[in-house]
Formats: sequence, structure tokens, C-alpha cells
Amino acid sequence: MESADTLWHGRFDTDPADVLRRINDSLRFDQRMFREDIAGSRAHASMLASVGLITASESEAIAAALDVVEAEFTEGRFKAAPGDEDIHTAVERRVSEITPAGAKLHTGRSRNDQVAADLRLWTRNALAGIAGAVVGLQRTLLRRAQQAQDAGIVLAGYTHLQQAQPVMLAHHLLAHGWALSRDVDRLLEARRRSDVSPLGAGALAGTSLPLDPALTAEELGFATVFENSLDAVSDRDFVADALYALAMLGTHLSRVGEELVLWATAEFGFVELDDAFATGSSMLPQKKNPDIAELARAKCGRLIGHLTGLLATLKGLPLAYAKDLQEDKEPLFDAVDTVRLTIAALDGMIDTVRFNEERMAVAASSPYAAAADLAEWLVIRGTPFREAHATVGELVRRSLGSQESLSDLVAGDERLGPDAAELLEPGVSVQRRMSPGAGGAKPVAQQIKRFSDRLEADTSRLEQAIAG
Ligand code: ARG
Repeated sequence: MESADTLWHGRFDTDPADVLRRINDSLRFDQRMFREDIAGSRAHASMLASVGLITASESEAIAAALDVVEAEFTEGRFKAAPGDEDIHTAVERRVSEITPAGAKLHTGRSRNDQVAADLRLWTRNALAGIAGAVVGLQRTLLRRAQQAQDAGIVLAGYTHLQQAQPVMLAHHLLAHGWALSRDVDRLLEARRRSDVSPLGAGALAGTSLPLDPALTAEELGFATVFENSLDAVSDRDFVADALYALAMLGTHLSRVGEELVLWATAEFGFVELDDAFATGSSMLPQKKNPDIAELARAKCGRLIGHLTGLLATLKGLPLAYAKDLQEDKEPLFDAVDTVRLTIAALDGMIDTVRFNEERMAVAASSPYAAAADLAEWLVIRGTPFREAHATVGELVRRSLGSQESLSDLVAGDERLGPDAAELLEPGVSVQRRMSPGAGGAKPVAQQIKRFSDRLEADTSRLEQAIAG
């Protein structure tokens, strides 16, 4: 005869093998959802009382026991029993030890709808937290952009990692800022998709008992209730949505990291890292390394891995619940932790980095970076663009192949002349870039204002989403 510490002991002759427990148990990682599990049980018990399946005093006894269990978890005093397979089993077992009414808590409920509810609540909360951290990083970028703008810092803009046209440093910093705004959108959208209550779906088909799923959903602050019980217990789209939003965000953080790595090289020399946000070498005394930026670049690999891993887990699953779905939590928890840490570290690094204005100015003032301005100068005076491009291209080629400066060649050219040559003076080209959204000082000043407005709007959007 089997001992009574599994949920299924009535049906089985022998105890589970040790290795079964090791592969099957999830308490080790899913106890992270103890708050959500307890909140779900509170809502379920109060709904059971409302529909008359348990008495008001039983519901109160369960609620009081749940308070005790919550305190035990919060204070690190909770003692797991050998049969506590997962957080749901553990909480219910402990509630039943505290009150006999605990034996009624699982009425009309399955761990299948319970785990989906817990994870949806957890995800809803975690994504709001990440979105808040992203807005924090955007504020740092805005502050640094504003400073760079006030100081008039110009740097070379690149295509193919070749110097292309000068832009304000603020323009470059805000390019990353706007990418992060799309991440905030995606995070809030993934959050909205997780905001559906699966409680009341039971194991897969609902129940013969008179449950009221709308009531539990309302109590837990879910925006909507499931439509189909089979879908409710097997849907993990919201986890994939969250992992995609995190992987895309991680991709943006990785690109920021890669640029900081490049900019910190002696070859670029665009930035000097603050000592508190750089590392040294155990052997080479002169080294100052951008480890945070490298890790921001690297961590994205595991975020992408978590997304593709989950999709691979989901793709072959028949309806409805299968234990495969237990593999949804560790990737999600790790992705959330990874992103939080990466944002915090990058935020500190960007907040304290020193921009080397002189080195940026040297890169920005190459006369060749103003070649497009020369072509546009001709265009304004009636030359078709293709012809203007060829004219300037030829002067560039002659200058690169001789001792003559581009400026002298331009000044001496009958189609261009000394006025056009002034476009090649340092700082002139960037100021001419006035089109909407462009990298010159004037449109960038307008952009800073729009970005700052966007941050305010996103902050209140976030507050509203959290307030529900
Ligand atoms: N620990 C399980 C999970 O994370 C909970 C659901 C278990 N359901 C079941 N019928 N065995 O998915």
C-alpha cells in the first residue's frame, strides 16, 4: 500500500520512484509564484462561498489559513513536505493542515487552470516591472542626450560602419531611446494578452458544479475570462509573447552594448567608462574593459534561446494540458531576471560614461562626410541629382588619389567654387540637416521635446495599466 503523500495515492499501489520526483517536481522554481497561487486560492474560496459550495465560515477559515501560509513564505519559514510536488500542492497541503476546510479548497478546480492563472498573474506583474525599468533607461538616455545637445556634441554617423554623415550625439542616443519605446509598446501588449482568467476551466472541460468564473476573474483583477476550457488550460501564447517582447528588447540592449564596446576601443576612443562600471585585467595593468556592455550583448543569446525553446516545446502538443507545459516557467523567469539585470547595469554605465567630444569632433569633421551636402548644393542650383553625385564623386576620387585637398578642388571647380567649399568646414554640414526627424541641431531639439513627451505619456499609460 502506498503512503498518503501524493495526490493520487488512492489509485496507486506503490510509492513514486525518487527519480520521478526529481524530474516531475517543480516546487524548486514555481514557489516563486506563491503570492499569485495564494491570491488565486483566496479568490476561488470566496467564489465557492458566493455560489454556496462552501459556507462563509469555511471560506473565512481558508482565507485565514492562506494568510498564515503567505506569511510563512514571505518570512522564509515555509517548510516543504516530501509530497509537495509544486506550489499548488504545497499551499493546499499546508492550508489543510491549518483548517479542515482546506479539504474543500480544490472544489471545481484543477492544477491545470490554477497554474495557468498563477503564471498569467505573475507575467502581468513582471512585464509591468520591466516596462518601468525600460522607461527608467530611456530617462537616462534623454538626460544624456539633453546634455550632449546643450554642449553641441557632434559625432560621425555611420553606415556599413564607415563614416557617412555627421549627426548630433543626442540624435544617436535618442535613436536607441525610440527603439526602446517600441519595446514598451510590446511589453504592454504582451501584458494585455496575459490578462485573461483561465480559472473555472477545471482540468480541461469545466465542471458540473455551479462555479462562477467571472467572479474569480473580477476578484483577481483579470480584464477578461476564458472562452473555451480546453484552450484556457493549454494556452501559453502569452508566455511566448512575453519571451518575444523580452528577446526583442534584449536585441536592442545588445546593440547598445556592441556600440559601447566599439566606442570604448582606443581606435574609436569616443567614450571613457566610469571606473565603477568597467573592469580591469588580472595580467595587463593598462586594461579597462567594457564587460557590462559585452554581457548585454551576450545575454541576448539566452533570451532568443528561451523564446525558440518554448516554441519548440509548444509546437507538438495535442490539446489540452500536458506536463510539457511545466517547462514554460524557468525560461520565462530567467528571461525576466536577465533583462532586469541587464537594464540596470546598462543604465548605470550610460549614466556615468564620459563622452570624448574631441575624438567625436575629429571623426565628424572629415571633409568627405560633407560630400552629400556638395551634391545637394548643386541640386538646389538646378543640377539633376545623379549628375551632381557624379561630379562630387569625381572630386573625391581626385582628392583621395592626390595631395590636393577636397576643399581646394571644390573651390577651384567652376560648377562649385569657394562658396561651396565652405560646406566642408567642420560643423557646417550637420547644421544643414534640417529636415523633419534629421540629425541637425534644430530638428534634434524638437525631437528631444517629443521624446520627453512620449516618456510622460508612456509613464501614465503604464500607471493606468497597473491600476487596471
Ligand atoms: N506543476 C504543474 C505545471 O507547472 C502544475 C499542473 C500540473 N497538472 C497536472 N495535471 N499534473 O504545469
